[in-house]
Amino acid sequence: MSKPIAKGSAKVWNAYYRYTARQPPRELLIQTLNHLEWEKRSGRGMTAVELGFGAGTDALELLKRGWQVVGIERHEGAAKFLGRRVPARRSSALTTVVAPMEGLKVPATDLVYASFSLPFCSPTAFPALWSSIRKALRPGGHFAGQLFGDRDSWCGKRDMTFHTRRQVLDLARGLKVEMIREVEEEGMSFSGPKHWHYFDLILGNHRRSK
Ligand SMILES: C[S@@+](CC[C@H](N)C(=O)[O-])C[C@H]1O[C@@H](n2cnc3c(N)ncnc32)[C@H](O)[C@@H]1O
Repeated sequence: MSKPIAKGSAKVWNAYYRYTARQPPRELLIQTLNHLEWEKRSGRGMTAVELGFGAGTDALELLKRGWQVVGIERHEGAAKFLGRRVPARRSSALTTVVAPMEGLKVPATDLVYASFSLPFCSPTAFPALWSSIRKALRPGGHFAGQLFGDRDSWCGKRDMTFHTRRQVLDLARGLKVEMIREVEEEGMSFSGPKHWHYFDLILGNHRRSK
């Protein structure tokens, strides 16, 4: 499974999209969807907001499973790339928005999904974004995605956000922790070898509907 690149040019991101488009959907997405039994129980359509969808493989998987998807991406190249991959019969279930996640008001949804994208939010904008993600989760809704840890070799890069384990636990406070998996390993990124330190998260909003 290919992991990301540090912030790069549109050209580098486009190469990353072409490369990752050959990969299957992310394990975290499959794990999340398998976990959400209510996806199968509920008759109503489920909505997901995906932040930083990249090549769009996970958005395509959600669409295939009958979800309505709003995808938000800073790079227009990603939106064009995904646009070319969506089967015509599913295109009405997908809305793509080309915009940065900084300052975003996340629309109300059943799932906010952010695969290896939230660390690319600028540190000053992250607290408001996280608060908006939490507010967007409908009762029974979930967040799934990664945060990068403070021992990641990219830690210290300007405009990227990193968290200690304690900070991750604080961010999860008040949500139901379905999974917090800390990963620390030597490995590859699209731009070369690096030390990975990140948290896989599945968090639920267990508030009841009023
Ligand atoms: C590492 S890629 C992950 C892509 C995909 N989710 C995946 O798992 O392969 C991060 C994505 O976030 C997007 N991105 C980076 N910074 C962003 C920002 N500030 N706002 C919105 N999207 C951003 C990039 O364009 C890129 O497509």
